[in-house]
Amino acid sequence: MVKKILIFRDAEQMAGYAAETWAVISGKAVNDKGRFTAALSGGKTPVSLYRKLSGTKNLPWDKTHIFIVDERFVPFEDEESNYGMINRTLLRHIRLPRENIHPVSTGEDTPHDAASKYEEDMISFFETGNGSPEPSNDRLPRFDLILLGLGSDGHTASLFPGAPSLKETAHLAVAVSPSAHAEKERITLTFPVINNADNIMILAAGDNKAAAVKEVIAGKNSLLPAAMVKPEKGELVFLLDKRAASLLSCAFQPQP
Ligand code: 6PG
Repeated sequence: MVKKILIFRDAEQMAGYAAETWAVISGKAVNDKGRFTAALSGGKTPVSLYRKLSGTKNLPWDKTHIFIVDERFVPFEDEESNYGMINRTLLRHIRLPRENIHPVSTGEDTPHDAASKYEEDMISFFETGNGSPEPSNDRLPRFDLILLGLGSDGHTASLFPGAPSLKETAHLAVAVSPSAHAEKERITLTFPVINNADNIMILAAGDNKAAAVKEVIAGKNSLLPAAMVKPEKGELVFLLDKRAASLLSCAFQPQP
């Protein structure tokens, strides 16, 4: 696993770098495979990146497929909906074919049903179905890019500290029950999928993330969920603003 830590003077500079990296990754994927697959997180941190991307017209949007890293079990028009936020800040501003958008179907009867449907959608899209009800390890979806955030409690996606979902290996997506960490029922990608990605960017900004950043990056054997993001063959890049990186040792220098 290649791991890089990049520190930016502010969230705006960080978003600019992330958008440039998106362009490089998407261009290579389309050149190599004819398509680019990305799974996007919700939250506030990636909003400036999504807005930058929405104004970038020379990307291969017609060959780009957008999935969601995690979702709250609410209607798309609910203010809590990650899909709703990603649609408002990015999707509705770009010429992305409708069939290239792969939201979590929160209209299902239960979060478990939504997770199962999302798993089926990924299996059929990535053609990893091998006939068994549970995808085998060697046929996991491989996203070109997964964009993650970091909670101040060290969560990422909707993988929260101490949650059973941290140990999930049989499914690509699972339902997450409300907890002290999150009041809404959720659906999340699981680590087998996340750690099978070619590229992972973890974005964190703000003083309230500094302690989690320090433990995830510099901690030894951290049990924080974000410390479990270890792409087997892919590249992991932490994109931090100076405030989120403020507790890291001076070995890490801000980007010029
Ligand atoms: C969600 C996100 C979640 C987010 C972190 C950081 O559904 O809330 O997927 O994992 O990335 O909570 O959120 P902020 O960017 O708002 O700090």
